[in-house]
Order: sequence, then C-alpha cells, then structure tokens
Amino acid sequence: MIRIALTKGRIEEKAIEIFEKAGYDCSPLHNKGRKLFFCIAPDVEVVLAKANDVITYVEHGVCDMGVVGKDTIMEMGRSLYEVMDLGFGKCRFALACKKGTDFFEGYSHKTIASKYPNVTKEYFRSLGLDVEVVKIEGSVELAPLLGLADGIVDIVETGSTLKENGLEVVRDVAPISARLVVNTASIKLKKNQVDKIIDDIAKALKEL
Ligand code: PRP
Repeated sequence: MIRIALTKGRIEEKAIEIFEKAGYDCSPLHNKGRKLFFCIAPDVEVVLAKANDVITYVEHGVCDMGVVGKDTIMEMGRSLYEVMDLGFGKCRFALACKKGTDFFEGYSHKTIASKYPNVTKEYFRSLGLDVEVVKIEGSVELAPLLGLADGIVDIVETGSTLKENGLEVVRDVAPISARLVVNTASIKLKKNQVDKIIDDIAKALKEL
C-alpha cells in the first residue's frame, strides 16, 4: 500500500487532474464530502491535509509520498526527497515594499513581515543583511501599510494584491511550484511501487 498526502485547496484540483490522467480513479475525490481518505487504486490511497501537515506526515513516514508547494518545503526545511516539479501552482517568493520607496537605501535596521520567517531569514542571510523578521499569519501586505514593517517577503502570483495595495516587488527571492515528495525510507523500501507512481505521473505530465 502506498499512501499519498495531497495538499488541500489550490493544489488539490490540479493534482487530481494529473492523477486521473495517470490512470488513477479519482472519482471518490470529486464527491468527497467531509471524508479525508480516498482509495484511487487497489494499492494506492490518498489523504487530504494542510500543506505543513503534508510535510509532517511524509517526513514521519505515515504517508509515503506527498504533493505540496515548494514554498512549504522551503519554509519547513525537513528531510524528504523532492522527486519531481509538477509544473503547476507556479508563483514566486518576492521581497516587496511600498511603491516608490528605495528598500535598500540607508543603513537603518530593517523589519520584514512574512508568513514565511525561515525563508525570509535565509534570504537576508544570503544577502549578508541583518533584519528583524515578524511572523504574520495572512494578508501580509497590511504590515508595511500599517507601519509595522519596511517590507514583506511573500508569495506573488499575478502581482495584483501588491498592486492594489500600493506595493511593488523589490527583488525576486525564489520560484515556487507544486512538487512531488517522497519519504526517505519509502523511496528505498517501497521502491517499485514508488517508482511506478513517479513514472505514471511523469507520463501524464507529458500528455497534459
Ligand atoms: C497569497 C499571497 C498574496 C497573494 C498573491 O495570499 O500571500 O497575498 O496570494 O497573489 P497575487 O499576486 O495573484 O495577488 P492568499 O490568497 O493565500 O491569502 P492570505 O494572504 O490571507 O494568506
């Protein structure tokens, strides 16, 4: 039995399309009600979970594989194998600040707001800049507008949230997309089954 943790929400729909194309029976996932377990082949089960929990379940080996965004993988920084870029859910991490301000001007200690404190700290470490990072849970764009932060590190997809709130990208930080991840033991102990699923998905992606 292979158990796959699928990130609920935005990633879910596109991932289901790919699994269907790969020959798995995803009909139970179309009428899911409040259920969280779904059998998509005689020996393949899918569970739906929040992104951070997908990483936790795969890392602990209670799920063999997972579909999760690169943003969550970068933020949680855990040990698992990232075996495939699924090519959807494309967006990027970017540093943004109020339009018309020069973020890097002056020598003052900067404060950055983000839902992704680890990604933010790592990015500024790579620039050799010491900043204070404030964790925000959502609508991070508010933080510079309210005067809490000089900038934000956040996900930018279309850029319209930034634009509509008078913010602009200063620098791109990293590209993001959905990834297929595998537990470090399952990749060896269940090699044939895991390889088959990876092959099936790779073929389906070519056809999409
Ligand atoms: C994400 C992200 C931005 C927005 C970017 O937020 O944090 O706010 O989407 O998308 P855009 O570039 O296409 O405008 P999400 O919708 O997940 O809500 P949240 O901020 O409440 O977490």
